[in-house]
Amino acid sequence: MKILVTGGAGFIGSAVVREIINGSRDEVVNLDALTYAGNLQSVGLSADSERYVFEQVNICDREALDRVFQQHQPDAVMHLAAESHVDRSIDGPAVFVQTNVVGTYNLLEAARAFYLQLSEEQQQNFRFHHISTDEVYGDLHGTDDFFTESTPYAPSSPYSATKASSDHMVRAWGRTYGLPILVTNCSNNYGPYHFPEKLIPHMILNALDGKALPVYGDGLQIRDWLYVEDHARALLTVLKNGQPGETYNIGGNNEKTNISVVETICSLLEELVPNKPAGINQYRDLITYVKDRPGHDVRYAIDASKIKTELGWQPQETFESGIRKTVEWYLSNSVWWKNVLSGEYRLERMGSGR
Ligand SMILES: NC(=O)c1ccc[n+]([C@@H]2O[C@H](COP(=O)([O-])OP(=O)(O)OC[C@H]3O[C@@H](n4cnc5c(N)ncnc54)[C@H](O)[C@@H]3O)[C@@H](O)[C@H]2O)c1
Repeated sequence: MKILVTGGAGFIGSAVVREIINGSRDEVVNLDALTYAGNLQSVGLSADSERYVFEQVNICDREALDRVFQQHQPDAVMHLAAESHVDRSIDGPAVFVQTNVVGTYNLLEAARAFYLQLSEEQQQNFRFHHISTDEVYGDLHGTDDFFTESTPYAPSSPYSATKASSDHMVRAWGRTYGLPILVTNCSNNYGPYHFPEKLIPHMILNALDGKALPVYGDGLQIRDWLYVEDHARALLTVLKNGQPGETYNIGGNNEKTNISVVETICSLLEELVPNKPAGINQYRDLITYVKDRPGHDVRYAIDASKIKTELGWQPQETFESGIRKTVEWYLSNSVWWKNVLSGEYRLERMGSGR
């Protein structure tokens, strides 16, 4: 199979690329515009494989998308390219509308034009897999409620509203034009190569630097955390075995308050890096409560029973094992995050080619 992965230089996309190259014989075309969130170093050694090619293309550029489809003739699309940071979407929603809505529309149209040229057998095997988030469902207030595949959409932020819009278009292109689509909605991911603006890496790196650990509001917002490599394996399971037209929710059943995540990181750092920056007694002393984010959702929790029972997927990491691996990864991969923090990674763009 040749898989066109959009956003393959991002956090989850790069995990998908590594999983395909290391765990299968499939080929990857990594299509990414390399925005601030894209970093080809995250693909790691997989970039050296004969089965990997990179295309620096923006999904808003329809002509370039048509050229990529014609040149590479993919068997499937896994669409992860997106603007993904909620705080940025509040400060500047325009680029979210552009990439998540207009870009997804362009990609759907390019995929549809390509699909129409395929033989009947190729059409049957073709898949357009759209990767989305549980944030499209809004938030939950009780403790025993879960998002299922039929939970109505109620997005709260510009980010989740644009993702919701893209989900609706993908389903409409399936229903109206017969494009064999798959949609997955996943909970919060964490793990290696996570951009330092996101909660977990931000806390690890600030703590190592003796800086404040800013926690929004009371820190009691609940997220359901999934280790990124478990998500990548789930996505490939859905791509290979999912029923066209269906939606699958993906989650780790690891509900944690934000403050307990930060406290866990502090405890792990106490154990792994006991030599603290000057003047710091305990890492947890760095925790500082800051004004809450507007529209901040209270609780997300995924019911992942459909993908588990129908497709046999199970996460391999618990939160405890995954967060330890993550902290250890940041401790032993300072070259990667120092390059990101300094902005060096943007100067080192390798251009096209492998
Ligand atoms: N991170 C999470 O916890 C999470 C959870 C569930 C779903 N998702 C979804 O998974 C997908 C990937 O998320 P992520 O965390 O890896 O995001 P990310 O921000 O780390 O990566 C996004 C990638 O898309 C690329 N990109 C952005 N705009 C583009 C454009 N116009 N054209 C081509 N490429 C472009 C960026 O360069 C980057 O490499 C997103 O669709 C997101 O909504 C994320």
